[in-house]
Amino acid sequence: MSKLIIKSKSRHSLSENDVTPEEVFKDRRAILKAMGMGAVGAGLAGGTAPALAQGFFDSLFGQDEGPERKVRTGKPLDFENLQSPKPDLKLTPEIKAITYNNFYEFGTQKTDPAMNSKDFQVKPWTLEIGGEVEKPTTVDVWELINSADLEERIYRFRCVEAWSMNIPWIGIELNKLLSKVKPTSKAKYVAFQTLYDPEQMPGQKSRYLGGGIDYPYVEGLRIDEAMHPLALMVVGMYGKTLPPQNGAPLRLMTPWKYGFKSIKSIVKIDLVEKMPPTTWNILAPHEYGFYANVNPKVDHPRWSQASERHIGEGAIARRQPTLMFNGYEEEVASLYKGMDLRKWY
Ligand code: MTE
Repeated sequence: MSKLIIKSKSRHSLSENDVTPEEVFKDRRAILKAMGMGAVGAGLAGGTAPALAQGFFDSLFGQDEGPERKVRTGKPLDFENLQSPKPDLKLTPEIKAITYNNFYEFGTQKTDPAMNSKDFQVKPWTLEIGGEVEKPTTVDVWELINSADLEERIYRFRCVEAWSMNIPWIGIELNKLLSKVKPTSKAKYVAFQTLYDPEQMPGQKSRYLGGGIDYPYVEGLRIDEAMHPLALMVVGMYGKTLPPQNGAPLRLMTPWKYGFKSIKSIVKIDLVEKMPPTTWNILAPHEYGFYANVNPKVDHPRWSQASERHIGEGAIARRQPTLMFNGYEEEVASLYKGMDLRKWY
């Protein structure tokens, strides 16, 4: 059982507070071939994860191979590392985490987000927080990134498709943002919304590219889940701002839930009285629930959730058992007292 690991906490400054198209890659066919993905369908349709070739990923970071072999990464966040003790989770290599993505606004193949989001504009960016609150507000996200006390947290990350990674996220607890707007007693749920901008997001323009989703992508949490200290508003990873493919400039991370809850590129948060609609539940209500807590005892209708392919350092993803609440049972189980954990929610 891993404890909540707070690796570092610091004030930091960004000279150019933006993500930069540092690297971009184009050779889609070679990439798909190397990943063994030529004929693999859309992610949440449950396709098998390919073997991940370390050498191939390393080559994407290579400086000698010309601009067409590059992917976009973030700008370094200047923060002190106060980590102690060392977390017991081995990190997934950064290049894998930023090239193997689900972000259907940029396409449904795992390599599409990194390829199709290279020109995504994330500055300026505002976040509206409203609904059942005393003090609705509009947050300048880059101001927040520059002024907040950011924490680095290494979390397990488990996708409903049965692959997992260990990622060092940087962000602030969601409850810190929410308590500023003073939720009223009617605020029972929190609804999140991704940017809607079909000009920038090809998947929003074409139902084919966007996997048939009705955009904008929406997600939700119960208010007590949102106030839990593990729920993080993420602004960075691997010591840098988020690259677009990972949800720049601001995304959610609830590590005890399946990855589709961690909505990316958020522009709006509403506190609401009723359970809000959520994208994957709308699309396939018999397959994806509102709570979507990681649970090895409850299979997806089309595949087992008992184990996962861990995408780590090796060339091949390693199979490992999936943990209840993704290893955060001690921290979050009390939120679900009275719910039958053998059931699907
Ligand atoms: N948010 C938006 N707006 N659109 C998406 O398609 N995909 C979700 C989630 N957030 C998604 C999203 C899914 S299914 C997963 S598993 C994670 O993002 C993937 O995050 P990653 O690409 O950083 O690994």
